[in-house]
Amino acid sequence: MYSPMSIVLKSTKQIEKMRIAGGHVAEILLILRDAVRPGITTGELNAIAEQELARRGGVSCFKNYVIHEGVPPYPGVICTSVNDEIVHGIPGKRVLKEGDIVALDFGASFDGWVGDSGITVGVGKISPQAQHLMDVTKRALEIGIEQARPGNRLQAIGRAVQQYVESQGCSVVRHYTGHGVGRKMHEEPLVPNYVDPQMENPLLRPGMVFAIEPMVNAGKPDTRELSDRWTVVTKDHSLSAYFEHTVAVTEHGPRILTLPRDVE
Ligand code: MF3
Ligand code: CO
Repeated sequence: MYSPMSIVLKSTKQIEKMRIAGGHVAEILLILRDAVRPGITTGELNAIAEQELARRGGVSCFKNYVIHEGVPPYPGVICTSVNDEIVHGIPGKRVLKEGDIVALDFGASFDGWVGDSGITVGVGKISPQAQHLMDVTKRALEIGIEQARPGNRLQAIGRAVQQYVESQGCSVVRHYTGHGVGRKMHEEPLVPNYVDPQMENPLLRPGMVFAIEPMVNAGKPDTRELSDRWTVVTKDHSLSAYFEHTVAVTEHGPRILTLPRDVE
């Protein structure tokens, strides 16, 4: 079973530092979003992120990340997951083409504090089905964030996300979850996008910071890992989308930390 969780609370000052980190992460994601077009490779997007990160003095949380023993360290600073790829797609020679959807996931630390965020972007003109999936996933993230407030329990987030996603005829991935964020990218607790009554369900308190990241499939929720040991695809090859924000629980409610610095 699970050992009792220890969720590290962040002070108001620390949350301000995370807001700055989150601002850089958000701004770099906007640069990447604007660079997405038919013909660009996922490796070129990674190079843009790497250069922008260095220019701003940040440190990648992804590059050289070891997920489990025996799996090669992650080679990129972003993950690029195209169409039926859900998460952890490795950037490289793949050329994006009109109609694709690409999930861009980016986590970095600035002054010792992490921001972790992601978006899914359409390449040129996309199908109405792909647009619907992206809209549902983005809305699911907003609905989950809304629950990140004192007085609620952790499972309120997953319950709200799952209920909404399933009401829209899509499914929520179970095998990967959100997580606590702080000085490290992955802290306790796990933040699932569904309800598992077996998991711990702590009360939310001001100072908790979570990465909420619904991964939503147009088809079934089942996943498969490719032979590169990183890329995760839908078992039924249906399309998948993902959006992520780093969010602080404050006494006034949820505060999104991964927004451009000139917002709010
Ligand atoms: N946003 C993903 C996560 O929170 C990114 C992990 S990619 C890795 O788990 F390369 F760092 F593993
Ligand atoms: Co994350």
